[in-house]
Amino acid sequence: MPDPIVLKTIVEMSAWSAKALRKDKSIGFVPTMGALHAGHKSLIDRARKENDLIVVSIFVNPTQFGPGEDLDKYPRTFEADEKLCTQAGADALFFPDRKEMYHEASRTYVEVGGLQDVLCGMSRPGHFRGVATVVTKLFNIVRPTRAYFGRKDAQQLRILQTMVRDLNQPVEVVPCEIVREPDGLALSSRNAYLSPRERKQALGLSKTLEHCKQAVAKGERDAMKLIGAMAEMLEEEPDAEIDYVAIVNAATLEDVTTIAGECLAALAVRIGKTRLIDNVRLNA
Ligand code: PAJ
Repeated sequence: MPDPIVLKTIVEMSAWSAKALRKDKSIGFVPTMGALHAGHKSLIDRARKENDLIVVSIFVNPTQFGPGEDLDKYPRTFEADEKLCTQAGADALFFPDRKEMYHEASRTYVEVGGLQDVLCGMSRPGHFRGVATVVTKLFNIVRPTRAYFGRKDAQQLRILQTMVRDLNQPVEVVPCEIVREPDGLALSSRNAYLSPRERKQALGLSKTLEHCKQAVAKGERDAMKLIGAMAEMLEEEPDAEIDYVAIVNAATLEDVTTIAGECLAALAVRIGKTRLIDNVRLNA
């Protein structure tokens, strides 16, 4: 596979896309913050199957990090990322720096009311405004036919689907399944922060969710009971501190009392200093 072309400026990226679109090529787009792993690769693989050309972006977006979050220490592994993109058959890698992406007097944001304030939005105010804003900017620059997002970040996916619908953004959002380690831990760039002891405890998230899914399969419909059982399981891990345990309607992200239709069991848990999220879909 040839290396993807690395484009660092908006002008170059837009010109590349314009040329592709003039030739009637479809563009599959995978936005990322780098530190790429098999979860990201699954998105690129899916995009590869469904489009003529593939663009991957790598940009650690400052506007989605709150004060005291891990913006400075977020893993940056460009060479390995480039290799993974080559293996996955990406055609272009958009790799802008902060100055390129944000004008110093930038003052326009995209907000998705309601959906952005629940779950992760409660402990990360401004996070989803940063995500929606940067993804809109990336869509405007890359002009993709389809854009691929993981269900690992279920709230982000729901917010971006809503944004595209509400603003008539001319792109199809494609949801992709969560990729997990063989033992169940959802892949995440932040797993790199975990010590071996924490890595063992991090397994509590997927185990707890699997337990909840099984209980629903056996007929349990009481959300409070399920949430209580999940919290109890998580509290068995000595270094786990729960941010939230929730069961919500998959479309509205509102809490439910009874499992009906498509629901989502979602967790955010701090293991030591590392905040991890995971979720599972529940179908009654
Ligand atoms: P990042 O965390 O790098 O994730 C990029 C994409 O990979 C997201 O759509 C995410 O859901 C997906 N992903 C991560 N881990 C996954 C896994 N284990 N299985 C399946 N998909 C997985 O999400 C972001 O970056 C940023 O918020 C971004 C959308 C790029 C905006 O800055």
